[in-house]
Amino acid sequence: MQESEFTPWLLAAIGRSPTPYHLTVNICDLLTSHGFTRLREAEPWDVKVPGSYVVVRNDSSLVAFTLDGEDPARSGLRMAGAHTDSPALKVQPDPLQVSHACVRMGVEVYGGALLAPWFDRDLSLAGRVSWENSRGGLESSLLDFGRPVAVIPSLAIHLDREANSKRSINRQTDILPILMAAGTKEPVFADILLEQFRRQYPQNDCRAILDHDLFLYDPAGPEQTGLEGEFITGPRLDNQLSCWTMARALIEADGRRNCLIILTDHEEVGSGSPEGAGGTLLDAVLERLFPDPEQRQRVIRRSLLISADNAHAVHPNFADRHDRNHLPLMNHGPVIKINAARRYATTALTAGFFRLLCQRQETGVQEFVMRADLACGSTIGPLTATRTGMQVVDVGVPTLAMHSIREMAGTRDCPAFFLVLREYFALASTDPLWHGWLS
Ligand code: CO
Repeated sequence: MQESEFTPWLLAAIGRSPTPYHLTVNICDLLTSHGFTRLREAEPWDVKVPGSYVVVRNDSSLVAFTLDGEDPARSGLRMAGAHTDSPALKVQPDPLQVSHACVRMGVEVYGGALLAPWFDRDLSLAGRVSWENSRGGLESSLLDFGRPVAVIPSLAIHLDREANSKRSINRQTDILPILMAAGTKEPVFADILLEQFRRQYPQNDCRAILDHDLFLYDPAGPEQTGLEGEFITGPRLDNQLSCWTMARALIEADGRRNCLIILTDHEEVGSGSPEGAGGTLLDAVLERLFPDPEQRQRVIRRSLLISADNAHAVHPNFADRHDRNHLPLMNHGPVIKINAARRYATTALTAGFFRLLCQRQETGVQEFVMRADLACGSTIGPLTATRTGMQVVDVGVPTLAMHSIREMAGTRDCPAFFLVLREYFALASTDPLWHGWLS
């Protein structure tokens, strides 16, 4: 893939991945179309070396790896990780409420969403449903309405004169989207889902929709913007930007090495699930690849994990929210994230490695440290480092409006980050950089 093709490809890929489920299936399809073989956790594995494989858990997390025949206990794994989920509004189990000629949907807030930008926007619905087939069996499928179906209208300023200075948002009462106009008969949510299901899967013998994991999302996909196209805006840049970039870099690294990527769900709510970074997915894969405990420990200690999650670019209207010496700029290269309280897992060694990697690509590299008087966010890096004993560097593309329904980043940073990761996955063990890391 040419550098100039990368950003348009990335934006289209994010646009057709409205939820972690869609993202995971899309990345899995991309990998298998490039020679990766799907492995299932509930079945025996026949892993051939050299070879490339992908494992999916809960339809929303994924591990992909390539093995090249070198002994990973000597040469380590070039690893990278990111999260598949993004803050959003999740539909309640029994969501419909009829009032004042409108049918609204009850929602829960998933993750640390910035709520104000969800108002006055056309919203769509997507996720996963479980359903009963004609033989009484349980099945599940992804669902995507794919068109605007709901909206959360603002309260007019005439009815709240202090809206621009004092409006707060109640998560239970203020953000219910309107799904439809109320009619004469009571709407049934399962019937609405069944109708959409039949549109998407006319051949499937679905008797009833049983349950759902559905999110609202912005169906207006990502865009390139700025007078010269210098920026991108779009939903779920945190952290689909990193997921897609990693997957593409793994595919395009020339010369297969021992590499692994891990993309996990539920980071925005603390990673505590079987498929989250706090769960067993990575351990389970490493245990099957390296069943001998001593060998496995040697692999882990020689490996490096680049944990990628977007970083806070300095906002020109609010520059004082950053430390004056650490002001990441959009279009100035990836950011190394550092925190004394270990909310980021970066060390001088892992940061130094990443800095050298960026220098090779002649892309800039920047640093972020939170102001000492503000609380720092976190990511999958520290959790993975703590759980496995692996060395980690936390990095990310600088963005604005993190956790908004539309976020913003620099156009040039996307291919720059891709080239850095591609270089990483292609590092030979004899390369001074990787060789230096190992010794
Ligand atoms: Co994130």
